[in-house]
Amino acid sequence: MAKGRNRRDKAVRDQYEQLPYPPRNPEDEKTRLITGSPSQLDEVNHYLFRGEQDFSGPFRALVAGGGTGDAAIMLAQQLADRGDEGTVTYLDLSSASRQVVEARTRVRGLKNIEFHTGSLLNLPDMGFEPFDYIDCCGVLHHFEDPEEGLAALKSVLADGGGMGLMVYASLGRTGVYHIQEALKLLVGDENPEKQLPLAKAFVEGLPSTNWLVRNPFVGDHKMGEDAAFYDLLLHPRDRSYLVPDVIDLLKTSDMELVTFLEPVKYDPENFVKDRDVLKRIRQMNDADKAALAENLTGNIKTHIFYARKSGDLPGNIAETGPDMIPVLAERTPAEALAQTFRGKKIFQVSFDGEKVNFNLPDRISELVSLFDGNRTLSDIQTEMSLGGDGFRRLFAPSFKLLNSLNLLWLRKKGT
Ligand SMILES: C[S@@+](CC[C@H](N)C(=O)[O-])C[C@H]1O[C@@H](n2cnc3c(N)ncnc32)[C@H](O)[C@@H]1O
Repeated sequence: MAKGRNRRDKAVRDQYEQLPYPPRNPEDEKTRLITGSPSQLDEVNHYLFRGEQDFSGPFRALVAGGGTGDAAIMLAQQLADRGDEGTVTYLDLSSASRQVVEARTRVRGLKNIEFHTGSLLNLPDMGFEPFDYIDCCGVLHHFEDPEEGLAALKSVLADGGGMGLMVYASLGRTGVYHIQEALKLLVGDENPEKQLPLAKAFVEGLPSTNWLVRNPFVGDHKMGEDAAFYDLLLHPRDRSYLVPDVIDLLKTSDMELVTFLEPVKYDPENFVKDRDVLKRIRQMNDADKAALAENLTGNIKTHIFYARKSGDLPGNIAETGPDMIPVLAERTPAEALAQTFRGKKIFQVSFDGEKVNFNLPDRISELVSLFDGNRTLSDIQTEMSLGGDGFRRLFAPSFKLLNSLNLLWLRKKGT
């Protein structure tokens, strides 16, 4: 048993030494910053720090299993852009991956990342001060014992802090594990150089009845990148989770879910029309609603979520108030969003081809155009000449929609 585990541990390490993932060219840092969830600073602030975190030193973030560096670079750049003194600690097993992040860091001239090579399982003994925030994406599902990995992360999490995590989701990956099993039988005993051409030929020739061929949501193996193909279909060890499995995983470390992202995908009300069914859904708790949504849509490939220590008080999601500033995600300019809504009563969003209509409150376009990242809700209310009730009737549904699409968060004035 232990021998098998050691062999698989070594196979995982060898994979990421030979094929750092995801593949990144450091020169691309000159032209773009990759952003995404979790770990966008305003999103972290909204979900884990009530929008009240100013991120100045000694704010400490850990990116565990940081790979080729997307999260470490995004966090470090966003901290540096604010002139804050927060730091990012990067840790990964793979020295080849670390070389890629270090090169990306040099291109950007970032000085606020500290690099470590090693297993996150050793975190309890590495002598780190506790971290306010821990990002661990696409890592725990490769562990022999993910619970052990989560416990190691929690051992260095500060009280009142939180984590942003990602693990694979079962239903959206339908077919992936059938092919992984088939390829283990076919080429499992070979080294990657021999495995790859045979595996590609096998996958190219799959019959139309195969579940991976029938799954329109998974496409990493078609990107033409060896690292992506290998990570999806030849990985020596990975598993996937359903919503209840995620919640159970967190419980093993006495942690709890804050939110899944994007929240819209985990709310079954968005995908159901029948009134009686809706009535029943509205009586369910959030965890059951999320589990129901996953089963009914079937297309969730990864679970991205924020978590915190169970029982940490007070609640850490930002709440509406006069001195809160609505902050749009970086990729969403206020005017462009306002233009999208102008003159419309319905906003249609396509989830992998499934079209869902959302009702738009009157004046949402005008409201959104005032989200400049500086105006508070009180400023906006004054500018729109609305009374308290009128403003609430406009802001509450607008916020619900934009927040659930992960486009809008709240930050407290002065942070
Ligand atoms: C799929 S990659 C994800 C990289 C990155 N987190 C991202 O989302 O782009 C998984 C990474 O986890 C790292 N890893 C696997 N087991 C680890 C461990 N025990 N300790 C630290 N890193 C580990 C691998 O070396 C690899 O770089």
